[in-house]
Order: sequence, then structure tokens, then C-alpha cells
Amino acid sequence: MSAAKSRTQPSAKSALSATEGPKAKGTKGRILTGHRPTGPRHIGHLVGTLEQWSVMQDDYECFFLIADLHVLTTDYEHPARIQQNIADVVTDWLAAGIDPKKATLVRQSALMEHAQLAMLLGMITTVARLERVPTYKEQIQQLNLNPSLGLLTYPVLQSADILIYKANLVPVGEDQLPHIELTREIARRFNTQYGNTFPEPEGLLTKTARLPGTDNRTMHASYGNAIRLGDSPEETTKKVMSMYTDPKRLRASDPGTVEGNPVFEYHDVFNPNKDEVEDFKKRYRQGKVGDVEVKKRLAEALNEYLAPIRKRRSELVKKPKEALRILDEGTEAARPLVQATLNEVLEKMGLR
Ligand code: TRP
Repeated sequence: MSAAKSRTQPSAKSALSATEGPKAKGTKGRILTGHRPTGPRHIGHLVGTLEQWSVMQDDYECFFLIADLHVLTTDYEHPARIQQNIADVVTDWLAAGIDPKKATLVRQSALMEHAQLAMLLGMITTVARLERVPTYKEQIQQLNLNPSLGLLTYPVLQSADILIYKANLVPVGEDQLPHIELTREIARRFNTQYGNTFPEPEGLLTKTARLPGTDNRTMHASYGNAIRLGDSPEETTKKVMSMYTDPKRLRASDPGTVEGNPVFEYHDVFNPNKDEVEDFKKRYRQGKVGDVEVKKRLAEALNEYLAPIRKRRSELVKKPKEALRILDEGTEAARPLVQATLNEVLEKMGLR
């Protein structure tokens, strides 16, 4: 058992001392990453990000952020959903192995220092630079919306999320890399103008390729193609049995295509019996196995894979206040740290 395993919630004192240098004692550095609480987490979040976070919390000082302010940049019309979504996301994080004894979970809107720092960083960020951010350009094109100030400054708030912790490393999906690049630019500009303050954080790309949805499109709750961590084994089996496979294959005796077939992509990720998977692939290509058999085994393997997560999840939902209590506790543990950074910035920018 590593020393990091026995680490507990950072006390206010250790959080403060950690601002002195990016590499806190006994760790490889500091991580800040997070999710917008848009709803329950699915198996794409699990294999893409949550498993990676669970490993990293042993070696790094980790802050995992519930970015609830960011939700409002697009979804401000549905305030009634947000609190439940936050509870669901935190519950799923914990079920997936995020451990509040090793990592600190924080709620963005409860630490207004995030927003205050974003306002200050906005002073040294041009509108033209923000208008070039690809996620922004895509969103106004796709949603055909009239962009709000909040949407334009989304990545400035994200930069503040990262810089206020003086994080070294930000594990994210590929779509987020432009935001990390902006964060690095803002850190450089601040350091040049006001003296060395922020480490330039590195983005760390999620290792696993993105898992497709059950219909082979991008997995997304609103497409109805996601398997949630909170789904029952029966629901999961049903979703697997109706998965998209090779559409050109009409009978089990037709040779099928394995590449780009989500059933086999899932087998590769969730079925630990690699020999069985190779045998299925061979017989599928030869037209010697039916989709039903392949899917049945996938459903079993996936349910086995998810069993420990579901067990933890069912324990958690018995105590409905527990997830939010853990989030509040983490938030309070982080408060002295974000206050210290904000004060430093206020002082350097001439406001103290
Ligand atoms: N923008 C991120 C996403 O949509 C969420 C996020 C907010 C974030 N603040 C962050 C991620 C800071 C990493 C670091 O996934």
C-alpha cells in the first residue's frame, strides 16, 4: 500500500502550504479536472475518465470539480434539474472509485473565488482570442444561438478553475485541449505582467479512445444511447441486446465486420476473456456466430464489470445526503487555498 493511499482529506493547513510550490509533498503534482453536472454518468465517462482519475488520485493531489456555473452557459432555462444532477454526478463519481480520502471534491459555485478570478483574468484576455476558441465557434454554429457573454467567457472561467489551484496537470478529453491552451496563455501573460504566479498547466489526454453509444453515434444521454452506471443489470442487458452491429449482416451465416462495430469495441473494453473475444471475432468474420450469442456474452461481461460499481452505488443511494455532504466537505477544505490564490492575484493586480 503506497503512502498516498493513507493520505486523508487535505487539511486547511496542507492546502495552504501547497500554494508555495506546485509539487506538494509526497505527490507527483497537483491535478484539477472536473465535469459539468449535466446528468448521471455513463460507461463512456467510466472508461474514458473516471477510471483514470481513480488511478491518479493515488499519486497526485487531486481536486475534482463540479462545474455547476458552467452548466448555465448553455442550459440556464432548466434550473430545476441542477441540484439533482449534481447529486447524481457525485454519487456516480464515488461509485466509480473516486475516494474522498484521497481526493478533494469541490463545488464551483460555492467557491465564488473561481468566478472572481475569472473576472480578473478577463482583464488580460481579448475578445478576439475568445472568439477563436473552437468549442465556442462550433456551439454557436450547431445550436444556432445568439451567444451570451457567459458562453464567450466559458474558457476564462475554466482557466480560473485550473489556475486558482495552481494545478500542474489537467486530464481532459480531446475537445477540451483548446481550453487548456488558453489557460497556458493566460498563465504566461499573467506571470509576465505581474510576476511568477501560476504554473503553466499541462493537458493530459484521456488514454482510452472514446466509447461509442449503443447506436454507434457519440454516447450522449440525450441520444438515448448511453448505458448509465446507475442502470440495472436488466436494463443493461436490454440495451446491449438491441445494440447496433454490422448493418450489412442479415443472417448469422453472413460474414460480418468487426472493425467499427460497437459490440466488439465493448467486448475489447469490458470482456476480460481475450481468447473468447478473439474467437468471437474470428467466427463473426467467417459467419459462424450469431449476433445474439455475441451480445449475450457482452451483456454478462459488462454486468460483471459494473457489479462492484453498482454495489457501491446502491450503498450510497441508501444515504441520500451523503454525496452532497462529501461535496460540501471537500469544498470547505479547498476554500483556504482558493482564497489565498485570489488574494495574491488581487494584490498583484493592484487591488490590495
Ligand atoms: N469544460 C469541461 C467539460 O465540459 C468541464 C470543466 C470546467 C473543466 N472546469 C474545468 C475541466 C477545469 C477541466 C478543468 O468537460
